[in-house]
Amino acid sequence: MVANVRRSHVYERSGPSPMDAIPVSSPKGSAPADDVILRTVGLTKRYGQRLAVNQLNLDIHRGDVFGLLGPNGSGKTTTLRMALGLVWPTSGDIEIFGGSITNTEHHRLALQRIGAIVEQPAFYPFLTGPENLRGVATFAGMADSAATRARIDEVLTLVSLAERRRDSYKKYSLGMKQRLGIAAALLNNPELVILDEPTNGLDPAGMVEVRALISRLAQEGITVLLSSHLLHEVQQVCTRVGILKEGSLLAQGEVNSLLATEGGLVLGFAEAQMLPRAAEVLHTAGQSGSAPWIRGVHYVPPEPGAWIPPGGWLLAVDAPVERAADANALLAGQGIYAAELRRREASLEQYFLALTGGTATATRAEAPVSAPQGGTK
Ligand SMILES: Nc1ncnc2c1ncn2[C@@H]1O[C@H](COP(=O)(O)OP(=O)(O)O)[C@@H](O)[C@H]1O
Ligand SMILES: [Mg+2]
Repeated sequence: MVANVRRSHVYERSGPSPMDAIPVSSPKGSAPADDVILRTVGLTKRYGQRLAVNQLNLDIHRGDVFGLLGPNGSGKTTTLRMALGLVWPTSGDIEIFGGSITNTEHHRLALQRIGAIVEQPAFYPFLTGPENLRGVATFAGMADSAATRARIDEVLTLVSLAERRRDSYKKYSLGMKQRLGIAAALLNNPELVILDEPTNGLDPAGMVEVRALISRLAQEGITVLLSSHLLHEVQQVCTRVGILKEGSLLAQGEVNSLLATEGGLVLGFAEAQMLPRAAEVLHTAGQSGSAPWIRGVHYVPPEPGAWIPPGGWLLAVDAPVERAADANALLAGQGIYAAELRRREASLEQYFLALTGGTATATRAEAPVSAPQGGTK
């Protein structure tokens, strides 16, 4: 269909990228030039006085599950809308499949290779999933043919809705509704799927379903560009991430190297007096060089909903998560046993503070603070 245009638009990388100036970590090195399937260059969108997107330089490589991460209003939707030609940039450019969106004919063909959910798709509540998809296919100009019906079956299977083919849309759970939306975006067999906040508004079960589906799309070789304001979601499903704040890109790179540095371990103790002892043992091990992977130790309050130990405080250890067993062994060697040991979930707010040099980094190198008030109840 359009596959024959692919080789005629191979992107040539020229000179250093403006991204080189900001924290970029890509341990695997730069991808070959023709592996970049979507690139924004100085992409900017202004709404009156408001700078919604500011000089954005993003590289989405073939095979990425790329997460555009940022709080509400940071410019995620505007960026995705520009990539889809729904909004025109104020300045800068977008190259998709090796050609600029300013090349109208190229852009038209490029859009045929993309599937997207940016606005919530409208489905008819009294029609079944396959009936709704037939409507979408007709609207998209696909022939009412055996091939189209076969493709509808294929995408329903891919999003795990084939079993529910006889149920009307109104009987679907929230997660099923969103999966049908993704099925609609897959009808044209896209190489790139763009999803704006795909788990927004879903219940926890629906979020799990949709994340599993996104991973399945990646296994099928589909490149995914999604947006999210949930740090842990991006950590769970994405391979690369671009972090937006107020329209500007703070950082871009591999999720593992960029986000996993945050977090560390959290330990809880069944007896309050264990806490300062554990802090002392781990801090000393980190300082003395016997456990150089311990970069810092401090007390933190439990997150809302988490177990509250006697004394009310947990111990946060700034250390790689893979060192959990080693930390446990160090404590056990001193007769201290943790009642809880888990990965610390870093919040997006903490992460932004750390990136912009706020207080979240300042606490990391700290020696153990004095025992919290009431810590020896
Ligand atoms: N059509 C529009 N007109 C005016 N301002 C807009 C429009 N769309 C978005 N904005 C503004 O641009 C900024 C970025 O919005 P958006 O891209 O929707 O952010 P996000 O998707 O990250 O929440 C916000 O300040 C928003 O109010
Ligand atoms: Mg948005």
